[in-house]
Amino acid sequence: MNSPPLLVTCGLPYTNGPCHLGHLRTYIPADAFVRYMRRVGEDVVFISGSDNHGTPIVVSAEQAGVSPRKLSEKYHQHFDLTFKRMGVIFDHFGMTDNPTNHKRTTEIVEALINNGYVFKQIVYQAYCIKCKRFLPDRYVEGICPHCGTLARGDECDQGCGKHLEPGEIKEPVCKVCGTKAEFRDQEHYFFRLSAFKEYLLSYLETVKGTSNARNYAIGWIKEELHDWCITRTLEWGVKFPGRDDLVVYVWVDAPIGYIAFTEEWAKKEDKDWKRFWCGQNRVIHFIGGDIIYHHCVFWPALLKGAGYGVPYAIVASGMVKVDDHKFSKTRGYVVWTNEDYLDKGLPADYLRYYLLSYTNHTKELNFSWKVFGERINNEVVNIFGNFVYRTLFFAHKEFGGVPEGDIDPAITTEIEKCLKTVDGFMQEYEFKGAVDTMMNLAAFGNTYIQSNAPWKLIKTDKTLASTVIKNCTQILKALALLIEPIMPEKAQDCWEMLGNTDPIATHSITEAITEIKARSIPLPKPLFAKIEESQITELDALLQKRVAEANKKMEKAPTISIEDFQRLEIKIGRVLGAEPVPKSNKLLKLQVDIGNEKRQIVAGLQQFYKPEEIVGRDVVVLTNLAPVKIFGVESNGMILAAGDAASLLVPLRDVVPGTKIR
Ligand code: 2FM
Ligand code: ZN
Repeated sequence: MNSPPLLVTCGLPYTNGPCHLGHLRTYIPADAFVRYMRRVGEDVVFISGSDNHGTPIVVSAEQAGVSPRKLSEKYHQHFDLTFKRMGVIFDHFGMTDNPTNHKRTTEIVEALINNGYVFKQIVYQAYCIKCKRFLPDRYVEGICPHCGTLARGDECDQGCGKHLEPGEIKEPVCKVCGTKAEFRDQEHYFFRLSAFKEYLLSYLETVKGTSNARNYAIGWIKEELHDWCITRTLEWGVKFPGRDDLVVYVWVDAPIGYIAFTEEWAKKEDKDWKRFWCGQNRVIHFIGGDIIYHHCVFWPALLKGAGYGVPYAIVASGMVKVDDHKFSKTRGYVVWTNEDYLDKGLPADYLRYYLLSYTNHTKELNFSWKVFGERINNEVVNIFGNFVYRTLFFAHKEFGGVPEGDIDPAITTEIEKCLKTVDGFMQEYEFKGAVDTMMNLAAFGNTYIQSNAPWKLIKTDKTLASTVIKNCTQILKALALLIEPIMPEKAQDCWEMLGNTDPIATHSITEAITEIKARSIPLPKPLFAKIEESQITELDALLQKRVAEANKKMEKAPTISIEDFQRLEIKIGRVLGAEPVPKSNKLLKLQVDIGNEKRQIVAGLQQFYKPEEIVGRDVVVLTNLAPVKIFGVESNGMILAAGDAASLLVPLRDVVPGTKIR
C-alpha cells in the first residue's frame, strides 16, 4: 500500500491572548516545511486550530467579563487571520471546543477506560473556603514539593519546571481571593502512564523529528514516569464520561484536537481521516520546546492506550528571547505579530526569512530589531535582491527579456548541487541550512555576473553577453522556485518578473534545472525594499517603552540596602477584634496581638472584609510606624495588603504572633 499522505500539525495556541513571535517560531517553519514537501511532490495535509479549554482561559474570561466560549471565538478568529497574514495557510484550523472534538475526546477516554488504563483515586485537592470551590491548576499557588520555589498549581514555572499533579502543591493559596486554601478529599481519574514506560522507550528510539524532542523525553522517562490525573473540577471543558462535575484535563482534549480537526477536514474534502490516525501514519507534530513532555510522553501513550497510531515525527523548536531576555509578556519582552510588525507595514516574508535563517530550529532564538534589520538589508536586499535586479534590468534593457543561449553545464551542476543540499536540510528540519544554501546560490549568481561582466561583453560579443544573461536568468528561476517556501509572496513577484503569470507554488522545485525559455519580461522593479534605520530605531524604541512601562507596573523601586530594610519592624500579628470606625464606610478598627503587646490599628479594609472574616487571622504588620489619629481613632501600626482590593498578606506556615519578618 502507498504510504499515507503527510499530516503536519502545529501546537495549538491558547485562546486568551494575541499572536506573538513565540508562536511564529513554530508556525513559520511548519508552513515552510509543508510548502517545500508539496513542491517536491508529497501529498501533505496541514492542520491546526485553537486550544480553548483549561483554567487560564477561564480565569482570563472571568477577568474580561465574558464567557470562555466568547473569549475563545475572539482569539480563534484572531489567530486564523494572523496566520493567514503571515502566509501560514492551513487546510483546516479548528477549535477544540467544537462538537467533533468533544465527541472524539469522549470516545478516546472511554476506550482508555475500557482498556484498563484509567483508575479512580482520592486526591487531596486544594479547596478555598471563601470562594467555596476546588482550586484546579492555575487557581492555586503555593510551594513546589520538589524544589521549594513559589509555584502555580500545575507547574513549577519559576523553579524546577516540573509538572505538578493536583494535590501535590504545598501550602496552597487561592489565586482569586488570596485565602489560605485547605486540602479536601476529591475523587479524580488517573491515566496509567507508568504502564507505558517500556513501550515509550522503544517508540522514542525510532520516532523521527528533532533530537531535542527525543532526548529530553527519553531522559524524563528513565528518571520517573508518574500516572497523570486526567480530570479537573471545572465547568468549562469536555465532560468526563459519566461525571457531570468533572471535565477532562485540557492536555487530554487539546492533542485529540489534532484528530478532530483531521476529521473536520476529511469531511469537507470527502476523505478518510482514519488513514492518518489508525495504524502506521506519517503524522508530524511541530511544537515549541516547552511542550515536548506532552507530545513525546503523554500523547503517544494516550494514543497507544486507545488503539490509535502514534506520531511519526516530533519537531521541537528552540525558545525565543527578546533582547537577550527571557520572552515575557508581563515584563514587556514580547513582539506582537500584528501590532508590532504587520500593522507597521513590514512584509511577512522578511520575518519568515529571519525566523527560518537566524539559527538552527532547535536552538534558542534571540530576537532584536537591530539584528533583524541588518540580516534583511545585508542578505535579502543586498545579496538576493541585488542579483535579481541587475540580471533582470540588463536582460530587459539589452534583450527585452530572457534571451536565447545555451545553459552552461557548470551552472546546471551548481543548481543541482544546491537542490540536493537544500533537500537534505529540509528532510532533516534544518531550515537554517536550507536557507543558507539558497543564499549561497544567490551569492554565486552575483559572482558569476560580476566576473563575466555582460555589460562589457555586450560591446564586443553580444552572443556571449546573451549567454551569460541567459545563465543568470536560469539561476534566478532556480532561486525563485527554491525560496517560495521561505518567502512565498516575494517568490511569486520574482516569478512574475521572469515573465510568468501562473502561481509559482504549482511548479515542482525540480523545474529549477529545466531550461528557462526565451521570453519577453516587464521592466523590473526592485523586489525588496531596504528597511530604513529610522524604522528600526522606532520599533526598538517601542519595545523599550513597553519594557519600561511593564517595569513601572511591577513597581520596580530603587534598590535599597539591607540596613534600609532592617529599619522596618515587621511582625506577624493575630487579629483579635475588628469593628467599623463610626461614620466611615472604609475603615475598620482592629485589635491586633503582636506578641508582647496588643495594638489598635485602623485599616481601610471595610469594603473588602467583614469583621468576622478577619478576626482570628494572622496578618503582617508594620509595627514601628509613628502612631496617628484617623477619624479621631488612634492607629498604631499598619496592616500590609496587596493591590486595589487589599488582599491581606498572610503567612503560609503557622507562626506565633510577634514573629519578626526578616
Ligand atoms: O502550550 C500551549 O500553548 C498549548 N495550547 C499547546 C497545545 S498543543 C496540542 F497538544 F494541542
Ligand atoms: Zn519546583
